[in-house]
Amino acid sequence: MTEHVKIFDTTLRDGEQSPGASMNTNEKLRLAVQLEKLGVDIIEAGFPAASEGDFEAVSEIAKRLKSTEVAGLARANKGDIDQAWGAIRHAENPRIHTFIATSDIHLDYKLKMSRDEVVNAAVEAVKYAKTFTDNVEFSAEDGSRSDRDYLCKVFGAAIEAGATTVNLPDTVGYAVPQEFEEMVRYVIANTPNMHKATLSVHCHNDLGLATANTIAAINAGARQAEVTINGIGERAGNTSMEEVIMALHTRQNLMPFETGIRTEHIYPSSRLVSMITGIMVQPNKAVVGANAFAHEAGIHQDGMLKNPMTYEIMKPETIGLSRNNLVLGKHSGRHALYAHLKTLGYDLSEDELKTVFKQFKALADKKKHVMDEDLEALVTEGVLRS
Ligand code: KIV
Ligand code: ZN
Repeated sequence: MTEHVKIFDTTLRDGEQSPGASMNTNEKLRLAVQLEKLGVDIIEAGFPAASEGDFEAVSEIAKRLKSTEVAGLARANKGDIDQAWGAIRHAENPRIHTFIATSDIHLDYKLKMSRDEVVNAAVEAVKYAKTFTDNVEFSAEDGSRSDRDYLCKVFGAAIEAGATTVNLPDTVGYAVPQEFEEMVRYVIANTPNMHKATLSVHCHNDLGLATANTIAAINAGARQAEVTINGIGERAGNTSMEEVIMALHTRQNLMPFETGIRTEHIYPSSRLVSMITGIMVQPNKAVVGANAFAHEAGIHQDGMLKNPMTYEIMKPETIGLSRNNLVLGKHSGRHALYAHLKTLGYDLSEDELKTVFKQFKALADKKKHVMDEDLEALVTEGVLRS
């Protein structure tokens, strides 16, 4: 039987912690709606105690989403948990995500707490969060650099207190795949009552290994992956959702897992994130980079013409990437504009299309050919920032 791996998207929380990636409430709402369409299981909408803006954005997202779980992050203290609950309480499926560090280096220098004090803080936080909702996730920050037996003890205590998900983060992107896989197996085998909770992983990309570590963890038994679109996030970023999903999808023969992701929404979601945050995707980025499906060498082009499978392991259409040859100019109509915007990743509503079409016509009067960059600017100004 194919097992389900939950996809926990933290683009709006850890992703927003990328330098320069801050988003306003409207932009966050738009992205949250897109993530729901993409089919993620959980959206971490923000860190409500961090700022009034974050609180407001998380509340708006919680009210708007229909079925997707909405998580709010909270440190392991009552004040943060109150704020998180205040923001997510209107969600159909709210989740409180509370965390505390478990590595000795964090305990000694950052928290100045003993191991026992951290266990108590984790237990108290989970118990307090449980007074609001049954759906509580506990994360052991810097888990990958924590003593394994101590980590199992904290997770066991959190599960006994009621955590339904325990998350093992590689907070500083230090782990390597073989080690991380062994660690996940160890945690599953040695955490008391592990069968009562889902084990999640959350990787950072400091050594460029976030996707590899996440895949290794899934193979070892993790059943939730925390990811961001385009891999945006603190420092070198988080695990890229599109890479994990397409690795699972493409190598189903080796990894028979299923997720709720509708892959054809991957490319539009990637475009939306880069438009909203202003963080462009590197051209050679796996799956969603501009060159990911481009073939330059003559031998490759020849092979592609004979059979695309000679040099392509995924079909561009699978991720929602299709190219058409329509040239847009002043004679183009609304349908052509709508279709072209869709290939660029923008599925506009009637009203939004009306606004952009008006601006497009004005521009087309001045310019012979309206380029994709022009259209993206119109959508950003006319829709995303309005
Ligand atoms: O990287 C990390 O440890 C985190 C936690 C808050 C889950 O983002
Ligand atoms: Zn993180």
